[in-house]
Amino acid sequence: MTAEDFRTIWLKPDDPAIVQIIDQRRLPHEYTVHDLRTWQDAATAIADMYVRGAPLIGATAAWGLYLAALEDADPANVQAAAKSLLRSRPTAVNLRWAVERILRIVATPGPDLVQRIRDDAQAICDEDVEISRGIGEHGVALLEEISKRKRGGTVNVLTHCNAGSLATINYGTATAPIYFAQRRGIDVHVWVDETRPRNQGSQLTAWELAASGVPHTLVVDNAGGHLMQHDMVDIVITGTDRTTRCGDVANKIGTYLKALAAHDNDLPFYVALPSTTIDWDSRDGIAEIPIEERDPEEVSHIYGTHDGKPIRVCTTSNNTPVSNYAFDVTPARLVTGLITERGICSASEQGLLGLFPERRGP
Ligand code: MRU
Repeated sequence: MTAEDFRTIWLKPDDPAIVQIIDQRRLPHEYTVHDLRTWQDAATAIADMYVRGAPLIGATAAWGLYLAALEDADPANVQAAAKSLLRSRPTAVNLRWAVERILRIVATPGPDLVQRIRDDAQAICDEDVEISRGIGEHGVALLEEISKRKRGGTVNVLTHCNAGSLATINYGTATAPIYFAQRRGIDVHVWVDETRPRNQGSQLTAWELAASGVPHTLVVDNAGGHLMQHDMVDIVITGTDRTTRCGDVANKIGTYLKALAAHDNDLPFYVALPSTTIDWDSRDGIAEIPIEERDPEEVSHIYGTHDGKPIRVCTTSNNTPVSNYAFDVTPARLVTGLITERGICSASEQGLLGLFPERRGP
């Protein structure tokens, strides 16, 4: 997964009218490459979670707008596709960021709109790889420090959901410091939260850590507190789908409970994020971040394989009312620090503006 040339989305080499993705719904049982031929395919891939993870959602939307322009390069057509793509998933702000970036190109007069959008979708992907690399380079210092304190003993990281290579273009956000630590010979082990209901932990994070040879152990979502009470966790690192300018963090449902447990056990709770995940227009995450509610069947049913064949099993009685909130917000006061491509800062407006001074008001 950390191979330099690994990518989660790319243009088909012999047919630039097709964008290719890994169908993440089928992992870890099957590695399938899926073709996106229209912007509607891109919207479906985002909404139905063939692709997921904030940076990859943004990149897929950008490539979706390229496909829209290929179909009809009239700016009105691309703008209409943008409107629909924006509705595909509400919480990850990278979607809005990427769509607005491409729409600025659409609004700029110039030759060959298709080529200009294609170049920028590619640039979004290339930049994301560099951003994740930056997060890894800064975040690894935290793991190095713990390793020194433990005189080379195992550094135990707990993570939630998948904020790995699969959620980005390569390297991941929460996983980037882990991959960099592994390269530096630090003895690192990851507790992987299962992450119900879609099991991004058991199906994606465990798969990609295994592919990279990083020691890890899968646990149920509710195990984190117990592990922390028994000194089995040194640091929690998660990703985020949207971080406000004051440092409140939305991430996969259950993240808040990990932060509470870390706080109660005096353990560092860090959030790794690209600057593309910062919503500079919002301050209060609980009041302002839209929380996606998904299909109740994701909770009432689970997917897996039996004798090598995919199966779907209902775990409730038919009439059990179900709700499925996909994300929660961890208030900044519970976040020890934010790991970004420009460095590590406190989860606060002051901390973020220290790293991104261009975002200060006039
Ligand atoms: O519903 P998902 O799988 O898209 O949720 C993903 C997460 O919550 C990730 O932690 C987040 O997008 C950060 S990805 C680098």
